[in-house]
Amino acid sequence: MRQKAVKRRPDESSTRPWWRGAVFYEIYVRSFADSNDDGIGDLPGITSRLEYIKGLGVDAIWLTPFYPSPQKDHGYDVADYFDVNPEYGTLEDFDKLVTRAQDLHLKVLVDLVPNHTSDRHPWFQAALSGPDDPHRTWYYFVDGKPDGSPPNNWESAFSGPAWMKDSRSGQWYMHLFAPEQPDLNWWNPEVPAEFEKIVKFWLDRGADGYRIDVASALFKRKDLADRPMIANQLTGLPIPDSKFKIIDQPEVHEVYRSWRRILNGYKPPPVLVGEIFDPSRQARYILPDQLDMAFALVRAPWSASLWRRSIEVDRHASPGPVAAPSWTQSNHDLVRHVTRLGGGFLGRARARAALLLLLGLPGQVFLYQGEELGLEEVDVPPKDRQDPFYKVSGGKEAGRDGCRVPLPWHKGQPNAGFSKAAPWLPMPAGWDSLAVDAQAESAGSMLVFYQRAIALRRSLSGVLPGRLRWCPAPEGVLVYQHGGLTVAVNFLARAVELPARGRMLISTDPLARSRNGRLTLPANSGAWLDRLAGVRVSTT
Ligand code: NOJ
Ligand code: CA
Repeated sequence: MRQKAVKRRPDESSTRPWWRGAVFYEIYVRSFADSNDDGIGDLPGITSRLEYIKGLGVDAIWLTPFYPSPQKDHGYDVADYFDVNPEYGTLEDFDKLVTRAQDLHLKVLVDLVPNHTSDRHPWFQAALSGPDDPHRTWYYFVDGKPDGSPPNNWESAFSGPAWMKDSRSGQWYMHLFAPEQPDLNWWNPEVPAEFEKIVKFWLDRGADGYRIDVASALFKRKDLADRPMIANQLTGLPIPDSKFKIIDQPEVHEVYRSWRRILNGYKPPPVLVGEIFDPSRQARYILPDQLDMAFALVRAPWSASLWRRSIEVDRHASPGPVAAPSWTQSNHDLVRHVTRLGGGFLGRARARAALLLLLGLPGQVFLYQGEELGLEEVDVPPKDRQDPFYKVSGGKEAGRDGCRVPLPWHKGQPNAGFSKAAPWLPMPAGWDSLAVDAQAESAGSMLVFYQRAIALRRSLSGVLPGRLRWCPAPEGVLVYQHGGLTVAVNFLARAVELPARGRMLISTDPLARSRNGRLTLPANSGAWLDRLAGVRVSTT
């Protein structure tokens, strides 16, 4: 028996959807907070820390997959879409989490994984039982080529062929990710019908929307044709042409239209965020009758011109006057951005400036747990690595464990207070100096900076219309105005001085000054002013 649905709250606000301009916080469930000291994060752990998240000033959380799963890809291999992984808790724990989040006015997004299931999912287990099983057509089971090779030359995102031989039948099944993640065949209408039930299930339990995993991949090109071979630009050797379109089939849009019709039955309408990073493809998905958002990922090297270009590309990817990008720098698949930006003191200084740059822009912002603590990528010892990307690549790829190490909560405690048991990924020595409780007490900490910046953004929401104007600035410096706010970031390794007027609202560096019409920005720093006068700028 399923549990009774959690009652959704009526829409308290006006016509502006709650998520426009919202700040989201991604929770990697396995690594956030451990309530029962087994070394693994869980739902009650999250519930117990929702006040911490509220204290950051964010509007919503996104929970990575918490369903029953053999954890071959840490939850992105789902064995049951209607339940909670016992390691993480129960459906009642999910309900409690949602209820507490509602009390705190935090929205909850659930991660939906429609492209593939776990190989342990009963549908796939049934499909394996033989070619005549009704579930066989829920997946891509295909004969190999006459020479015994896989049906085509498509590759898995985790390296190697996207096909695994089913030894019982001699056919191959498709897996665009790990072999334990067989791709569902969305051309079979039973698959979309089943997912409509799944979409309703978590909304009825109080979820406020979904982040949709690999959102553009559900349908593969029907002919399963080989990618044409082209010459590698460096070596001249033949390689499959990655531009040859195998996903993004027009039929996927009908699926999102049908989900939108379901969502429209809820008040306020829940939100759909597609995992689509390529800006050139987003306009076909971010539409009133499909998805609300996709990700605007900024991971350019630390250079003013590259950051401006990256921001502009994403701004122009969003169609229509009201759509605006959902800025993000980090998630559970990427090297942590403090490390990408140079690491250590330098990386943290740049990360603060980058935060001001993105928080000032029109649009939404997605944070990844631990960035508010300035956490860096961890070099997880090879023997402890868990990521299939590392394993399937035979160790050629470092994998993504380094950004998934559990959060440090308490200074001076074993495993920095995450758990009394050994955490599922080991935590580096010294991380407890970055613990939440240590940073909460320190006015100059990254955590306090995040809290201040997000609170300030919230307080400015009334004076931030959607228009953005880049201001003249010396090379290596970006300045823009967004309504009543001026944002300036110095990417250079030396201080700059600009003719700028305005009250300094926040800066990343205590030596930043706005005085007598001049703004001084130390190296790798940024500031918000409440207005800017003068267009001529000079460096010192
Ligand atoms: C994207 C997810 O973010 C990633 O963690 C996962 O490995 C793949 N999709 C496959 O589900
Ligand atoms: Ca636990």
